[in-house]
Amino acid sequence: MIETENNDILSGEIIAEDKKDFALRPQTLDDFQGQKALKDNLKIFLKAAKARGESLDHVFLSGPPGLGKTTLAGIIAHEMGAEFKVTSAPALDKPKDLAGLLTTISPNTVFFIDEIHRLKPAIEEMLYVAMEDFELDWVIGQGPSARSIRLPIPPFTLVGATTKSGNVSSPLFSRFGINIRMNLYEKDEIISILTRSAAILDIKIEKNAMSVLATCCRGTPRVANRILRRMRDFAQIYGDDVITLETVKFGLGKLEIDEMGLEKHDRELLRAIIEKYGGGPVGADTLAITIGESTETLEDFYEPYLIQQGFIQRTPRGRVATPAAYKHLGLEAQLNEDQRLFL
Ligand SMILES: Nc1ncnc2c1ncn2[C@@H]1O[C@H](COP(=O)(O)OP(=O)(O)OP(=O)(O)O)[C@@H](O)[C@H]1O
Ligand SMILES: [Mg+2]
Repeated sequence: MIETENNDILSGEIIAEDKKDFALRPQTLDDFQGQKALKDNLKIFLKAAKARGESLDHVFLSGPPGLGKTTLAGIIAHEMGAEFKVTSAPALDKPKDLAGLLTTISPNTVFFIDEIHRLKPAIEEMLYVAMEDFELDWVIGQGPSARSIRLPIPPFTLVGATTKSGNVSSPLFSRFGINIRMNLYEKDEIISILTRSAAILDIKIEKNAMSVLATCCRGTPRVANRILRRMRDFAQIYGDDVITLETVKFGLGKLEIDEMGLEKHDRELLRAIIEKYGGGPVGADTLAITIGESTETLEDFYEPYLIQQGFIQRTPRGRVATPAAYKHLGLEAQLNEDQRLFL
């Protein structure tokens, strides 16, 4: 995902501080915490491709921001002992941009395209041939005398990442041999990530403090690392350099993050569905306008966590608030007919 001006602590998007995060970024599959099923499979695919002396099949990575897609792409290159080349779809403006990259790679390079759902049609078509045949369709000349030639390129592994897998065309999607869908992390996985990051950053944190913190990270590694750094600030200024349960409670209170890991905006969103739209269903576009966010931010960032936590549900007619949402806000649940039908 591209860097934004958004400095929201819980936002999954990249903020300037995260770029200093290199030390925290795992380099090997063993160092990549959680997501066991995904890692087990990937290990086998990597081992088999290496044993055959081939490049790994093309990999499609999808899931909400901050879950480790870019990290995983880097790990794949590292594990394959291959060159890692990074670009993003919006940066590929003309076919020659893509051709320039693909003709200069070394064999078996891991070629990472972020935001792959944003490829221009001409580039996407060029990529089809490149992915399938390791060749480029290149048109020379113009008008009636134009002809197309095929240029061989070295074998490579395309890793395409997106937060919007639904926006990727099916011809492109079908050319990926390995499809990895990343889901929000469970609490124990976030604890592993926090433990690892705390050790790297030399941060002392008590066990019960870690446990509370882990429930407030939206199941997202990027958010976990960010909250850990903020708690270190609170401990440094108000405490004695150790993050205690007290520090965490105080710090989360200051950041307006509640015990379920919801921030002010999440609560406003739930309140809007309940109070403005009678509990729903309400369409994503309408809801996004009500809370002053883009539909994209609503769908990519706010919803996955609220759905995982069981506060809202997506239905064919829009979003509905669940009884858990009423309870969390301290409201009495009076479910309407639609809610009763869907829940
Ligand atoms: N499984 C993991 N174990 C440890 N740290 C992780 C893991 N996954 C992600 N991280 C950390 O979280 C940060 C964010 O991950 P990354 O940038 O790879 O997310 P992303 O899915 O590419 O996000 P975006 O959609 O915004 O591009 C990384 O810098 C890394 O430090
Ligand atoms: Mg990324």
